[in-house]
Amino acid sequence: MNSLELYERARKVIPGGVNSPVRAYDPYPFFVWKGKGSRIYDVDGREYIDYVMGYGALFFGHAPSMLVERLKKIVEDGILYGAPTEEEVLLAEKIREFYPSIEMVRLANSGLEATMHAVRLARGYTGRRKIIKFEGCFHGSHDSLLVKAGSGALTFGVPSSSGVLEEVAKHTLISRFNDVELTEKIVKENRDDLAAIIVEPVAVNFGLVEPKIDFLKALRELADYSGAVLIFDEVVTGFRLSPGGAQQYYGVKADLTTLGKALGGGLPISAFGGREEIMKNVAPTGKVYVSGTYSGNPISTKAALAVLGYIKENPAIYSEMKWKVEKICKSIREVASDRSLKITVNYIESMFQVFFTDSEVSCYDDVKKSDIRLFKKYFHGMLKNNVFIPPSQFETCFLSTAHTDEDVELTINAIENSLSQIEDET
Ligand SMILES: Cc1ncc(COP(=O)(O)O)c(C=O)c1O
Repeated sequence: MNSLELYERARKVIPGGVNSPVRAYDPYPFFVWKGKGSRIYDVDGREYIDYVMGYGALFFGHAPSMLVERLKKIVEDGILYGAPTEEEVLLAEKIREFYPSIEMVRLANSGLEATMHAVRLARGYTGRRKIIKFEGCFHGSHDSLLVKAGSGALTFGVPSSSGVLEEVAKHTLISRFNDVELTEKIVKENRDDLAAIIVEPVAVNFGLVEPKIDFLKALRELADYSGAVLIFDEVVTGFRLSPGGAQQYYGVKADLTTLGKALGGGLPISAFGGREEIMKNVAPTGKVYVSGTYSGNPISTKAALAVLGYIKENPAIYSEMKWKVEKICKSIREVASDRSLKITVNYIESMFQVFFTDSEVSCYDDVKKSDIRLFKKYFHGMLKNNVFIPPSQFETCFLSTAHTDEDVELTINAIENSLSQIEDET
């Protein structure tokens, strides 16, 4: 059965034919046969170099042998116990080794769960209601964080999904990424009822946007000033930006940290952790209730232990990925300037994104200025040239340790071809 036939069937039984909205694009998505290394193969017989990489989870590429061989043995010892294991202790200790700010940690299964629990914990710990999030940042699809800026004043949170109650959304205040002044104003106005400031330390959900110098430090100071809990959502940056994530990279410590994606190398696992004084409020020692049948399950836990072991033993992977991303991005800039295309390229370590605008992209408003129509053409051009990137201007491309020098050369060719086609059509 080919992708079109599967899509027609899927639409009848799965809303939009996909199990997560970003996977849908016009006219229909390809359906996957399998993945190996840097490549993903569809049921129509095509092969792509993959920069979606499970939206950042596949840090080592598809089916990495160091995980696959281990997983074959792991499942034979049981899939789920509902009782604690030694590996959970080992993993908690390992996470603490990578993240000195994490004195205690709890495992969960998805990024959504980790941030939902962290926000509840911050509210339970402080006894306060309000949280600050940044426009365009995404922390998973749960009520307190599915909130966007209301029209007019940026701080007025309104639901970004139907089904989210206004009564919930109004406690989420919206600031602008990289805008210290506005954030300071909101903190000062809500100081006594502010439970948390939650931020993606590098924003990856409205394209890719780095924090400006001192933005994260300013958030640290504002949290200290107000008594709010500073939550770094490192579901994407954790272990990817550096072994100790954004906190090691930028030298700023969070009170609570959420982790996911790269931690499991593709298996569903997440974690939230931080200062013991806060974490001990989690049940059963405290009154903040958090639970999960699959939390700390042996398969994901053992896979995560293997991931962290591999990262520790292979520190060179970071510079190798960084070098490849730099090469790709520098050639995009060259191609764009040769063709006078208005393009901005943001990149950091193993992540990059191309924006169809010639102005700086440092907050959500900047991304909204880019030409979405051209991005769509670029996406389809890349597909045609056998490169799979996220189908949205508001996402980020991820390199894995499996991407080779040859992949980089092929990707540069694909970019040249697809940008030339855009130039011809405009
Ligand atoms: C920064 C960030 N936090 C949280 C999440 C939610 O993670 P999950 O999709 O595993 O629930 C995402 C998802 O992309 C994310 O990018």
